[in-house]
Amino acid sequence: MKDKVVIVTGGASGIGLATVERLGRDGARLVIADKTDPAPVAEKIRAAGGTAEAIAADISQEADCAAMVEAAKSAYGRLDVLINCAGVNARNRIEDAGLDEFEWIMDVNLRGTFLACRAAIPAIREAGGGAVVNVASELALMGVPNIAIYTASKGGIVSFTRALASDHVDDGIRVNCVCPGPVDTPLLRQGIVNAPDPAARERASVESTMMKRHGRPEEIANVIRFLASDEASFMTGSIVVADGGATAQ
Ligand SMILES: NC(=O)c1ccc[n+]([C@@H]2O[C@H](COP(=O)([O-])OP(=O)(O)OC[C@H]3O[C@@H](n4cnc5c(N)ncnc54)[C@H](O)[C@@H]3O)[C@@H](O)[C@H]2O)c1
Repeated sequence: MKDKVVIVTGGASGIGLATVERLGRDGARLVIADKTDPAPVAEKIRAAGGTAEAIAADISQEADCAAMVEAAKSAYGRLDVLINCAGVNARNRIEDAGLDEFEWIMDVNLRGTFLACRAAIPAIREAGGGAVVNVASELALMGVPNIAIYTASKGGIVSFTRALASDHVDDGIRVNCVCPGPVDTPLLRQGIVNAPDPAARERASVESTMMKRHGRPEEIANVIRFLASDEASFMTGSIVVADGGATAQ
């Protein structure tokens, strides 16, 4: 990934943070876009010898997505890769979920992925091709209770990935998707803390995997890095599951 210009959304925390740390060490030139101030993360990467710019961006907003692509072009003159890690989650049965909850999850996860891709693809094409990596979830592939809205948003990202891959294959842009299982990040911890019985939720989450453990953000970053790199040159429209065996059972 040396010298590749890469935007990572959601790069201030969890899987996105592990991804920018990994790509920073690999010598990529980064734009870290997040609603949570990403400046300290960029500063840390620069202090370690990497190349990173930070931009505060809400990916559900068209203008913010355009601004993060402009930030890459103005800092580095091009864009090679977009990695969509920003996402939100909430658990509820649908009769207990307000329309505002549906709109919030869809706005960040699905509309945000759409807006970021729409802003980035012309710039990646201009650079002669590259890659997009979306982040969905194991939940896009199975039905578990009390999380239908998030599941639908992630199912949309899987279908969107396949369709987008086909639209841009002739542009030399590969579009792939990672479906993580439970990964130990602030998002997962928040879900555990908010559960009626946090200890039982944590046990169920760990037990849902074949490996009987949560993934580490770095383990998903490794898969994302691979899909973003030229090593994945024959992969597009792929849905890559990294879930400790959860969906294989
Ligand atoms: N952790 C898991 O178990 C797990 C499992 C499957 C899929 N995922 C997916 O992985 C991705 C990363 O999740 P994580 O666990 O690292 O979560 P996280 O909460 O640690 O990180 C998500 C980041 O996205 C940012 N973000 C949220 N809304 C945003 C917006 N509107 N615009 C810009 N940035 C925004 C947050 O500020 C945060 O920094 C998400 O798409 C999530 O759905 C996570």
